[in-house]
Amino acid sequence: MQTRNDRSPAAGGRAVRMDSFGGPERLEVQEVPRPQVGPGQVRVRVTAAGLNPMDWIMTSDAETAARFGLALPVGFGTDYAGVVDRIGEGVSGFAIGDRVFGGALSRAVSDFVVVDSSGKTPADEAHHTPDGVDDRTAATLTIAGRTASAALAAVPLGPDDTVLIGGAGGGVGVFAVQLARIAGARVIGTGSAASADHLRGLGAEPVAYGDGLVERVRALAPDGVTAAIDLHGTDTVDAARGLGVPDGRICTIAAQVGGVAAANGADAAPGALGEIARLVAEGRLRVPVAATFPIDRIRAAVELQAGRHVRGKVVIDL
Ligand SMILES: NC(=O)c1ccc[n+]([C@@H]2O[C@H](COP(=O)([O-])OP(=O)(O)OC[C@H]3O[C@@H](n4cnc5c(N)ncnc54)[C@H](OP(=O)(O)O)[C@@H]3O)[C@@H](O)[C@H]2O)c1
Repeated sequence: MQTRNDRSPAAGGRAVRMDSFGGPERLEVQEVPRPQVGPGQVRVRVTAAGLNPMDWIMTSDAETAARFGLALPVGFGTDYAGVVDRIGEGVSGFAIGDRVFGGALSRAVSDFVVVDSSGKTPADEAHHTPDGVDDRTAATLTIAGRTASAALAAVPLGPDDTVLIGGAGGGVGVFAVQLARIAGARVIGTGSAASADHLRGLGAEPVAYGDGLVERVRALAPDGVTAAIDLHGTDTVDAARGLGVPDGRICTIAAQVGGVAAANGADAAPGALGEIARLVAEGRLRVPVAATFPIDRIRAAVELQAGRHVRGKVVIDL
C-alpha cells in the first residue's frame, strides 16, 4: 500500500484541485503524482496551509483566474508551511529536513509543493521557519503578514498616531493591529459586537462598523484620528475622511478609491516577511488561528472563510 511517506518516485500525494472554476463545491481532493524538483527548486512536504480570500476569489471564474495566470486543472491555496524533502540542482541555503514556509500560488493545499528556492518571487518561495514558530502559525504569515506590512508602510505610524483600522479582526487585521501597536500607535479597530474581546486581545479599542461609525470613533477619540487603514472595503475610508483624516494618511487593501493609496502585499518591503516571522518567534506578535480543518473538509473551510466573519486565520492540516 502506498503511504504519504513512501519515497519511491512513483508515489503520489493528496492535493485539492479544481477541474472547473467556481465556488467551494468545485473543490475536490485528488490523488496526484508528486511534483518533481527542477534546478533551483525545493520540494516541500506540506504540513499546514493557511487560507486567504484571494484563494477563492482568484479561482471563482475563468477571467479572474487568467489575471493570476491560472489555468485548469488548478490547485488551491497559496500560503504553506512544511519540511523540505527534495532539493534541485544548484540550490543553496536549504537542506532536506529544513522547516520552511512561504507561498505557492494556488497549489498549497497539497501534500507536496515545489517552489523556487531563491525567495525572490512572491507566491513561489520558501523561507526558513524560525524556531519558536509552529507550522500552523507559519502557514498564516506570508500573504496576510506582507499585506499588513505594506499597509503600514503606506501610512507609517508612531506613538503620536491614533489609527482607525477597518476589519481589524480578520486575517490581515490581526497583523495590522499588532504592527500598529508595536509602532506605538493607539489603535481603534472596527468589528462586530461579537468581535470586541478578540479586538481588545490584539491591543485595539473595538468600535462597531456600520452606520454612525464617524460619531462612535469621535466619541472614543475626541482629539482626532491621524491615520486609517481599510481592510474590508471603503467604509473605513469614508469614515476617515468624515473624521478629517487627509487622503495621504489613508490606505485600503480591498478596494480602489481615488486619492487613497491601495496597499498590496506583493509590494511589501523585501525584509517584511522575515520581520513578521521574527516578531512571532519572539512572542511579540501572535496569530489567532480561528479554525483548523483536515484536507478532506476543504469545502467547509472555504465556506467558513468566505462568510467574512473569521477572527484571525483558517488553516488546513495536512
Ligand atoms: N491587496 C492585497 O494584497 C490583499 C491581500 C490580502 C487580502 N486582501 C483583501 O483584503 C480583505 C481582507 O482580507 P482578510 O484576509 O483580512 O479577510 P477576512 O479574514 O475574511 O476578514 C474577516 C474580517 O472582516 C470583518 N468584517 C466583516 N464585515 C465587515 C464590515 N462590514 N466592515 C468591516 N469589517 C468587516 C470581520 O469582522 P467581524 O467578524 O467582527 O464581523 C472579520 O474580522 C479581503 O477583501 C481580501 O481579498 C488584499
